[in-house]
Amino acid sequence: MDLRPFITYLEHLNELRQVDEADPDLEIGAITELSDERNGPALLFVHIKGYPPGYRIVTNLIATPRRLAAALGFPAAILNVELVRLIKDKFKELKSVPPVYVTKGPITENVYREGEVDLFKLPVPKWHEYDGGRYLGTGDMVIMKDPEAGWVNVGTYRVQLHDRNTVGLYVSPGKQGRIISQKYWSKGKSCPVAVAFGAHPLVWLPSFLFSPWGVEEYGVAGALLGEPLQVIRGEYTGLPIPAHAEIVIEGDCPPPEVESRKEGPFGEWTGYYASGTRNEPIIKVKRIMHRNDPIIMGAPPLKPPGSGVATYVLRASNIWSQLEQLGIPGIKGVWQMRAGGSHYLNVIAIEQKYAGHAKQVGMAATSVPAGAFQSRFVIVVDEDIDPTNDEDVLWALATRCDPATTIEIVAGCWSSALDPTISPERKAKGDTTNSRAIMLACRPYHWKKDFPKVNRASDELRNRVMNKWGYLWPAANSG
Ligand SMILES: Cc1cc2nc3c(=O)[nH]c(=O)nc-3n(C[C@H](O)[C@H](O)[C@H](O)COP(=O)(O)O)c2cc1C
Repeated sequence: MDLRPFITYLEHLNELRQVDEADPDLEIGAITELSDERNGPALLFVHIKGYPPGYRIVTNLIATPRRLAAALGFPAAILNVELVRLIKDKFKELKSVPPVYVTKGPITENVYREGEVDLFKLPVPKWHEYDGGRYLGTGDMVIMKDPEAGWVNVGTYRVQLHDRNTVGLYVSPGKQGRIISQKYWSKGKSCPVAVAFGAHPLVWLPSFLFSPWGVEEYGVAGALLGEPLQVIRGEYTGLPIPAHAEIVIEGDCPPPEVESRKEGPFGEWTGYYASGTRNEPIIKVKRIMHRNDPIIMGAPPLKPPGSGVATYVLRASNIWSQLEQLGIPGIKGVWQMRAGGSHYLNVIAIEQKYAGHAKQVGMAATSVPAGAFQSRFVIVVDEDIDPTNDEDVLWALATRCDPATTIEIVAGCWSSALDPTISPERKAKGDTTNSRAIMLACRPYHWKKDFPKVNRASDELRNRVMNKWGYLWPAANSG
């Protein structure tokens, strides 16, 4: 449950590189982007320009399927749809393991209260050139308690640095953290919040998966770790805080009509600065805790196909397991095309079992919790298409989809101010809905058997030719 041994493990796998003396003002962000584009290693920024030597930032920690597999304990060689399947099966078997309270942990090594709070001491990067400020929270865990049912939600939501003891919090409408804080605000109260910046990936990743309402992310983390997560009771909020987190703030989030500040713009996962600058809630920070030589987890959004976190693998496995939980048969694979960021282009491969099956899958995939938010296209393909092979998927779309009859458009769906297709006028009115296209790129079920045959050589013929003529393609042969 500690980030540091995982960093050492990545070093051992040759999957981590230290970067000396980078500037948090744009350099760290640009290095992160350039490295991600090259499928580079995780980056540990040390001796950050302008800050004491111990302060560090890690980025691209689980940016590749290979490092995600390492975090989850799967062999690195398992990639793409097999990895999605393994994660789906692992999550299906998980039984919540509630956290245990401990009285102290590494996080209590340094505690700053009230007048001592000074967030400017932390090396907070400006990640993208047109960002409206510096963002401490990108790969973070925002912790809140539902005031009615008492369960604890943890979500990854961006946190902007406003001043020495104030940060901005952007939680998209409809997200669980927003619904919970509204419950406090509707009674005129502030919402108690704690935010952890830096944790082991298995502790962090449940916070950015779309869990059903009421499911506690700490329980999922414990199940993934195979032992209860150790938490301390926050001195100010009473909220459970991971005892091995790197940096934690605690404070109050007042009702936005009482106090809010301009937030953004911020370079977002869509590849744009689409949500601009709006008034958003703040957290008045009352405590800062950090370990000695703390490490900030940085996960700045990057223009697709870039993504500093392999969310596409995790979300695909979540959509798959949620479709299975609905009892829909025949799902053979799920993928999110990287060009669509972490939501826009979902691909589901199915073995069609009955007329209407493909449309049922498409409608469900755009409605299950893991697929509902800010999606745009769901492409349903047959089982002979590898959903992780973008060219194969586009070939199926080009040759098996009849736009007049097999594309369903659904309007008025759950999106957000981050959606670049929603006009500023609609956003100003709070209308952040978008439309979806469910594209059936499968052979029509009722005349499937008569659909033209594919003209690719059979596996048997290809194997025979490879055995005899393989010397013509030595690289392919050795691979
Ligand atoms: C790196 C990263 C940053 C994110 N930033 C935000 C954000 O600023 N606001 C937001 O609403 N969702 C953000 N998300 C998505 C949420 O974490 C995700 O929707 C999660 O399910 C929210 O938790 P909830 O379901 O408990 O609301 C981010 C996800 C990742 C991986």
